Amino acid sequence: MAKIRTTFFCQNCGAESPRWIGKCPSCQQWNTFVEERIQKSEPKEQWVSPDTLSNKIHPKKISEIELSEHQRINTHNEELNRVLGGGLVPGSIVLLGGEPGIGKSTLLLQVALQMKNQKVLYVSGEESEQQIRMRAERLQMTMSETFVLTETNTQKIAQAIRDLQPTILIVDSIQTMHSEHIESTAGSISQIRESAGEFHKYAKQSNTPVILIGHITKDGSLAGPKVLEHMVDSVLHFEGDRNYGYRILRSVKNRFGSTSELGIYEMQNTGLRQVSNPSEILLSHRDQMLSGIAIGSTMEGMRPMVIEIQALVSTAAYGTPQRSTTGFDSRRLNMLLAVLEKRAGFRLSSKDVFVNVAGGIKVDDPAIDLAVVCAILSSNEDIEIDDKTCFAAEVGLSGEIRSVNRIDQRISEAEKLGFERIIISKFNQKAIPKSSKIEVIAVNKVEDVFKYVFA
Ligand code: TYD
Ligand code: MG
Repeated sequence: MAKIRTTFFCQNCGAESPRWIGKCPSCQQWNTFVEERIQKSEPKEQWVSPDTLSNKIHPKKISEIELSEHQRINTHNEELNRVLGGGLVPGSIVLLGGEPGIGKSTLLLQVALQMKNQKVLYVSGEESEQQIRMRAERLQMTMSETFVLTETNTQKIAQAIRDLQPTILIVDSIQTMHSEHIESTAGSISQIRESAGEFHKYAKQSNTPVILIGHITKDGSLAGPKVLEHMVDSVLHFEGDRNYGYRILRSVKNRFGSTSELGIYEMQNTGLRQVSNPSEILLSHRDQMLSGIAIGSTMEGMRPMVIEIQALVSTAAYGTPQRSTTGFDSRRLNMLLAVLEKRAGFRLSSKDVFVNVAGGIKVDDPAIDLAVVCAILSSNEDIEIDDKTCFAAEVGLSGEIRSVNRIDQRISEAEKLGFERIIISKFNQKAIPKSSKIEVIAVNKVEDVFKYVFA
């Protein structure tokens, strides 16, 4: 009997070592090495017939490489298309990560069922055929060219792929896949690496796009070796608060597009609805004016959004005042509070300050600074801000109102949503679109804004 070979793998970065070591020499983490059984057997399964592979190996001049302006495959899901940078690129491999129950399987099944003129193979290692059929019923979609395979063995999947010749492959969870070439259990570092490597090879050789679903660990990173993220072309994160119906699809790595794009969905009884006008969910519906609320403008990728900032300022009950934020950088809040103290003379150092971005999303666009500042003052002074006013400017350390990018798009978005005035920086004045009917107020210093808003 052959001796069982085992190797130790770092659970954090996937580094390999023949013996156990306490500290990973590659990622410097302690106590991450775990023993796994491996056994490679040759030859490996062929995912495509050998005659389609040319065995010539010769480097090409970069100018001689044909530029097949990759005919992107339309997923018929606008939000997903945008996050991917315009559709699925043939031969690309995409990893979709997210917490359990967030809706990864729902999203991809929905996409599979909507595909037109594509033969989609949905491989699931997590659910039975019955469960998938039931979910498809729930999504109320006409049954299309979607094939389902419940299998976890990559060699058997390879066989099914050779028979079926799908044009898109979806793998529901890379953590459940296992390759016969490796002895360790499914979900272990070496298995994930091996199976992902096999799917990667398949995608590149057959020019078929592959979408892998990946689990994430408790701290929010993708479960498995770091090489997994390096291997794939795009990494998407599906996130959101399970208590809210909203889900956000974000790209964190994209070889074929921007990583600042964002897709928004709402989980309903019949699957995920695309939210094409995000401002609709980011503004809370109120029938009376309240203090502590200001509307700011933010860009997510190329898309302007209008978002509600809520602030609460109250006298600190205990010695040290609390500063707490949701969806906004807390260091940035401290900076804005210091500006208000020093430049505008507001005494906030003995007050608790809470800032919340409505809708459960995170914003790091500096253009919401002015809205944050105004929400804080509105709460502090207990004066409401007119709900037809919105803000789009950055606040600098000396209290100056700084310009922000794409002001024309922000103004148009505010106008489209029925705002009557928008407050921007003086330095942005040149870029105001001529045709806009919304009243644009350009200010220079933070004090001028207060005079205007709280007059
Ligand atoms: P699922 O896609 O199974 O999550 P994941 O694959 O990321 O683990 O999503 C499951 C959740 O979504 C589940 O709690 C039920 C809910 N859901 C709906 O609210 N509406 C629907 O139409 C579907 C299919 C699921
Ligand atoms: Mg699932």
